[in-house]
Amino acid sequence: KVLILDFGSQYTQLIARRVRELNIFCEIFPYNSKNFTIENYNAVILSGSPFSVRFEDTPYPNLSNIKGKLPLLGICFGAQFIAHNFGGKVAASNTREYGRANLSFVKENELFFEEVSEGSQVWMSHSDTIVDLPNNCELIASTHDVVNAAFKIKEETTYGIQFHPEVYHSKDGLKILENFLVKIASIEQTWTPDSFVESTVAKLKEKLGNDKVVLGLSGGVDSTVAAVLLSKAIGNNLYCIFVNNGLLRKNEFENVLEQYEGMGLNVKGVNASARFLKELKGESDPEGKRKIIGRVFIEVFDDEAHLIEDVKWLAQGTIYPDVIESLSATGGPSATIKSHHNVGGLPDFMKLKIVEPLKMLFKDEVRRVGKSLKIDTELLGRHPFPGPGLGIRILGDITAEKVRILQEVDAIFINGLKESGLYDKVWQAGAMLLPVNSVGVMGDERTYEKAVVLRAVESTDGMTADWVNLPYEFLQKTSNKIINSVKGVNRVVYDISSKPPATIEWE
Ligand code: XMP
Repeated sequence: KVLILDFGSQYTQLIARRVRELNIFCEIFPYNSKNFTIENYNAVILSGSPFSVRFEDTPYPNLSNIKGKLPLLGICFGAQFIAHNFGGKVAASNTREYGRANLSFVKENELFFEEVSEGSQVWMSHSDTIVDLPNNCELIASTHDVVNAAFKIKEETTYGIQFHPEVYHSKDGLKILENFLVKIASIEQTWTPDSFVESTVAKLKEKLGNDKVVLGLSGGVDSTVAAVLLSKAIGNNLYCIFVNNGLLRKNEFENVLEQYEGMGLNVKGVNASARFLKELKGESDPEGKRKIIGRVFIEVFDDEAHLIEDVKWLAQGTIYPDVIESLSATGGPSATIKSHHNVGGLPDFMKLKIVEPLKMLFKDEVRRVGKSLKIDTELLGRHPFPGPGLGIRILGDITAEKVRILQEVDAIFINGLKESGLYDKVWQAGAMLLPVNSVGVMGDERTYEKAVVLRAVESTDGMTADWVNLPYEFLQKTSNKIINSVKGVNRVVYDISSKPPATIEWE
């Protein structure tokens, strides 16, 4: 497997995803982490960084067990670090080099660039440049503006490249990574969804034996894939609990529960809608609502878990982006673990051990594993849905009547997207109920009813997002249908704000 040392580049996770696309397993650690054992890896990649090797407080990894001993690839900052510290020279470039460039020179018969030709488009993003290469280096590629675009240390399998092979705009980037990892480092491409399922099921069997495991299903992709994997390993010793907090989409609880049962999961549906509504009564602060929903969920889940005799483990659908150690904000040596609502969600009073079968997977890999497990594609392609559900899409306080209205509106919108073939083109969509009434006219009557917002965004991870340019005709049809059929709504608006500066949810 491959070790990726992170220097804080925005592209580090992308390097990992590209390596895994090659069916090679890899892990990311901060450059100064003490939590990895170098003997476990077959090759090392150094990421880019917002830092410059020219400054004193720059990251300084210890490569003594790596360089010259394992195949090593430095990308951008990684390449500059190698050049700077082993006899070369790095300086600020006259112009910051961002974006498209083309390879103007590629050394012939160089394994690293096999099947990559001159002219190939690469993506640059740097403000320093390598002015002189160390003496024992060989230049293997240049672009028009960057002479030392790629180099190799003679007698070693150490390479440095100034451009970013991991971004999609570097046309032959994946090929270059493949050349390095497969042809040069001789790593086998055996890490596939099928092999992941096989080895994970075997490991879970051994780890869990005859123990009972409890898992909270949400209807989402992660918890579902985790449940199916575990149930393959331990069958009915997996106890799934699916809680209806009363803030799910229309008919979601019944439909998804039925689907889970059809998949052969040992699942119990718990309808706690009334309890959630009662606890939420009068609360209109977004964080206050989140806290109540989180607390009541834990109470309900805990009550249910206590009904299972002798349960030993709590399973969670945690995925890799939730657990990757990230460099601390200062880039200093105190690496912190990202805090996230799915991590460490174990209440103290439940003294269960935790099992997280998806802990090493990215989201798209979870979907691929789900496919390999033959989970319904519709279920795997579902939009993300927040844990507090419609609770944070009803602005202000929550009542049963407001939930009913929003469920109707949301169902018309989402079903419409599906019917028009737009659902899969959107990353996340939903409706918000505003806490204002507006004046309208229906027939000869003046109305004074609620306004709702439709929101559809494209994104890859929810961190940044842009609104989707849905066809006017679709919006027109949807708006008509909502106003004509949902009692209590007389106005529909479409949200055209990007994130940042707005957020995806309104609360
Ligand atoms: P924002 O609104 O922060 O949302 O742009 C980004 C993504 O996170 C989801 N989201 C939540 N998910 N609990 C969750 O489980 C929450 O409290 C929560 N708030 C926002 C949101 O749906 C979007 O996908």
